Amino acid sequence: MNISREAIAKEKLKPLFDDPLNLPFGRNFTDYMFTMDHSGSGWQNPCIKPLQPLVLQPSANVFHYSQEVFEGQKAYKSKKNEILLFRPRENARRLNRSLQRLCMPEIPEDMFLEAECELLKLEERWVPSQKGASLYIRPTVIGTEAALGIKASSEYLFFIILSPVGPYFKEGFNPVSLWVSDTYSRAGNGGTGEAKTGGNYAGSLLATLEATQKGYSQVLWLDAGEHRFVEEVGAMNIFFVLDGNLVTPALGGTILHGITRKSVLELAPELGIPVVERRIAIEEVIDGIHDGKLTEIFGAGTAAVISPVGKIAFGGRDHIVNANRTGPWAEKFFATLTGIQYGDSADKHGWVYRVK
Ligand SMILES: Cc1ncc(COP(=O)(O)O)c(C=O)c1O
Repeated sequence: MNISREAIAKEKLKPLFDDPLNLPFGRNFTDYMFTMDHSGSGWQNPCIKPLQPLVLQPSANVFHYSQEVFEGQKAYKSKKNEILLFRPRENARRLNRSLQRLCMPEIPEDMFLEAECELLKLEERWVPSQKGASLYIRPTVIGTEAALGIKASSEYLFFIILSPVGPYFKEGFNPVSLWVSDTYSRAGNGGTGEAKTGGNYAGSLLATLEATQKGYSQVLWLDAGEHRFVEEVGAMNIFFVLDGNLVTPALGGTILHGITRKSVLELAPELGIPVVERRIAIEEVIDGIHDGKLTEIFGAGTAAVISPVGKIAFGGRDHIVNANRTGPWAEKFFATLTGIQYGDSADKHGWVYRVK
């Protein structure tokens, strides 16, 4: 791919790295962005240029019919000063599945990866070197055609922006509290739940607001049909240590195919815990907490890697998990995954991609 480049007039004075471990999520951005457009005859005009506002007509498809998909990844700096990505081809594949579902043109995997790598090489100084901090990557595709008819856009924009971020946990692991909504659902059968598209997140905001107003940090989503089976937690996949097995809801169209989830499932047998993917009812979770069969719950996703759960509100009361402490399996998966991501441990699975 022949990427054109526009230089920035003046680089930002100093990356905001006085205290990288306290960088907020997604508020500071680097100097450059990648863009590429599509108007019926394939992806064209790849460009790395100064980060700038987009100019779109108010009638652009994305504002009205939400043809929008995105990805979330991180670049890590190793002790040897390498820039590392974690399973980036999985993100490229998931982006293409999301694009297909939203009737948008796919991006060849190699093109996606080259765009990310070229931007990251240019923005190397923005990748924090402290373990726990990283450079968050947000590839996004939007429908840009200026037309109000309800149909797929004939024009698209692909862009990548980068944001240095601190760790999700500032003082080690803090178990989060969950609120089970008996009103709202995140995704229904045949819908767009397994696509990473903005509408899914817009639809989840009201439930999250109610949860936080009640003093809980995340929503535990149940299935839309019976409102009984556990699906995801906030924007993470969920795991239970139940009867000595690692149990997670099976993917069935409504759950995002998390790359952290996939990695946890692949690591589990090596770490000595059998995995089970199946439906799991909220009653089984609550009973397990009280009869001692369920010893740990944790979420898994790129932002937090592993997030232990200490409390679930269901049926009008709080149910405390593992005495509201981080459990040994959450610790083990967190240490193993971050060890691989920062290049500290052997990469037996070939998951690490060296940008440079
Ligand atoms: C709804 C939802 N589920 C799960 C995940 C976890 O996916 P991953 O591990 O690929 O970050 C995310 C975050 O990307 C998400 O937004």
